[in-house]
Amino acid sequence: MNIETKPMEPTADLVDSFSRTISYLRLSLTDRCNLHCKYCMPDDDTKGLQVLQHEDLLTYEELLRIVNIAVNMGMNKLRLTGGEPLVRKGVMGFVASLAKIKGLEEIRLTTNGVLLSDKAVGLYEAGIRKLNISLDTMRPERFKSITGVDMFHKVWKGIETAERIGFDVKLNVVAMKGVNDDEFVDFARLAVDRDFQVRFIEFMPVGSDSTWKEASYISSADLKEMIGKIGVLEPLSGCRMDGPARVYTLDMPDGRQGKVGFISPISHHFCETCNRLRLTSAGRLRACLLHDKEADLKSLLRGGATDEELRALIRQTILDKPKGHTLADDKINCSGQMSRIGG
Ligand code: GTP
Ligand code: 5AD
Ligand code: SF4
Repeated sequence: MNIETKPMEPTADLVDSFSRTISYLRLSLTDRCNLHCKYCMPDDDTKGLQVLQHEDLLTYEELLRIVNIAVNMGMNKLRLTGGEPLVRKGVMGFVASLAKIKGLEEIRLTTNGVLLSDKAVGLYEAGIRKLNISLDTMRPERFKSITGVDMFHKVWKGIETAERIGFDVKLNVVAMKGVNDDEFVDFARLAVDRDFQVRFIEFMPVGSDSTWKEASYISSADLKEMIGKIGVLEPLSGCRMDGPARVYTLDMPDGRQGKVGFISPISHHFCETCNRLRLTSAGRLRACLLHDKEADLKSLLRGGATDEELRALIRQTILDKPKGHTLADDKINCSGQMSRIGG
């Protein structure tokens, strides 16, 4: 990462119609994944899920061009997502190129951890310091039933490797009633035993079969009640917001402490402070995770657009960013595939 350069100031172009500054870009590098989580990639055969072909993805050159334009507009934080970003060929070289972009202060990655034991050192050397790792269960059999693949031990090794190297690790646990609710307390204990933050995420109805899955949903309030039985939860510096997560310390009776976060898109949405823009793996700009409106950046790019024209499309997408989602009113506007949007 280039530490000599001064951060870019966000330009007025990043301010949306609700006075939010959109300074954080999430890039989905691929919709492919080496796991097959039930809630993210419904069964291909029955639900008609199709993966993108290589030529449908933006090339690394195209992505670098877009990131450069975004950083010139003042965006300073980037998160790489998927599918699973580490399955895309050449990803390490891409990260190294991103790290050279002046003004890009942080590059983060969300991963399922399967390839981490091999790639963590390279990622650290390239300048990444923060990893969000998805893990919904610590039971190998259950892991297989949620993800379709028997890889718990490989993921666990990846998590331990990342921790040992010195990454700032956050574990993402999607809370699902009847699936992993008997493990929340174990996950909270893990946050005490280990040096990473565990974040519990309310299940969001995303995808074409995203009928409101009330049966799967557990609110953060219920989660806190369950975890509050083993220790005392205190909001960290006045309930500081760390991205979408509300972070708490968990004080145990034996004096030890851990950090747990709650991401509550349904019960306490954070839309009024949202600073995100997404570029899907299909090359479409998406202003809101939970609204399907997208702008076709790829066609513009491949049609020979100038940097100014691309910048104008980014600007327009930011201006069109909705005020927030409407899940609470039971209006679900998200039929897009999580594996293409990147969460
Ligand atoms: P940092 O704040 O940089 O740590 O990132 P993050 O927590 O936003 O990223 P991550 O990819 O780990 O996402 C964690 C969970 O939050 C996932 O379930 C995402 O789908 C969800 N999430 C992330 N950003 C948004 C958002 O803008 N809106 C909503 N509704 N959910 C989001
Ligand atoms: N609701 C909440 N979180 C989800 N994720 C994937 N699908 C959902 C969903 N329907 C999480 C993944 C990953 C992050 C990018 O989003 O577990 O940690
Ligand atoms: Fe931002 Fe949309 Fe998520 Fe709200 S639902 S926080 S507006 S991406």
